[in-house]
Amino acid sequence: MSDTITLRRPDDWHLHLRDGDMLRGIAPESARHFARAIIMPNLVPPVVTGAEARAYRDRILAALPEGADFTPLMTLYLTEATEAADVIAAHRDGLIAAVKLYPAGATTNSASGVRDFDRVRGVLEAMAEAGVPLCVHGEVTDPGIDIFDREAVFIDRVLDPLRRATPGLRVVMEHVTTADATAYVRASSSDLAATITTHHLVINRNHILAGGIRPHYYCLPVAKRESHRLALRAAATSGDARFFLGTDSAPHPDPAKESACGCAGCFTATNTLSILAHVFEEEGALDLLEGFTSLNGPAFYRLPPNEARITLRRQAEPVTYPARINTGAGPVTVFDPGFALHWAIEA
Ligand code: NCD
Ligand code: ZN
Repeated sequence: MSDTITLRRPDDWHLHLRDGDMLRGIAPESARHFARAIIMPNLVPPVVTGAEARAYRDRILAALPEGADFTPLMTLYLTEATEAADVIAAHRDGLIAAVKLYPAGATTNSASGVRDFDRVRGVLEAMAEAGVPLCVHGEVTDPGIDIFDREAVFIDRVLDPLRRATPGLRVVMEHVTTADATAYVRASSSDLAATITTHHLVINRNHILAGGIRPHYYCLPVAKRESHRLALRAAATSGDARFFLGTDSAPHPDPAKESACGCAGCFTATNTLSILAHVFEEEGALDLLEGFTSLNGPAFYRLPPNEARITLRRQAEPVTYPARINTGAGPVTVFDPGFALHWAIEA
């Protein structure tokens, strides 16, 4: 078996870069290997207008290391007050690549999200018409629904009705965590795709809860039981172009995670590619890694794949990564896959 793999430079189709000191501290971790990333708009306050997306994009570009080759693909945070004309203009001007739908209260900084889907109908119809993709955080927020069921219930109660009501709308179901979601995507038309995170290919809910609570494995949607993790691995390594990488790398300062009420989010930007190579090798699918990291996403977003290449080389000794990244906003623990990594990334 070959000890090197060469890939087109990967893109990350779901990334949290934050702002200020945190942004400056963690942006280099993504820019090192990724060429582009879909940037989540869940700042406080959220990025809701084209003008705000432009200003945020400029702050990201200013935070990148000298000479970095990294393009942030901006998104707008959909609220019940979003104006269709602003969205369409921002997309036409090349300022945004997508719009993000958070059900209100679903996750970190989602209080401004959508409660009444009828109120965003006009925006969604305009997006369908103009071909603007909608990125969806697919969990219901009904406190009566068990947290492990929220994604599956969202498909039936919200996503499927929404897609039927808005024909032609191009949707990315983000960070899918269940066999229900992968089956729904497979059974749908090419208008629907899904991103899969690195960590959901590695952990199940036991990693979070068995033998002590491990806050650095807690993210939303929360990891499910093992059968779901296996379904995600099967989807990611299937070669089906509707599945592609969105790391959902979501940094929080360690004190905010190691707390009586810890924040959701796994920070995987630093070692994602080594972990993915490990997972794809275990699944006998290293030849499909490039599709997942570098081809399927651009195809869905109707962007050209990157021309630059990176090489991954298998090392005899384990490849090490820093345990945490020290930022001006505090230390951020890097996701620990729990096994030794042997694939190193060369520029
Ligand atoms: C994200 C964050 O911290 O912003 N957290 C997470 O667990 N993934 C929000 C999100 O994408 O749900
Ligand atoms: Zn996210």
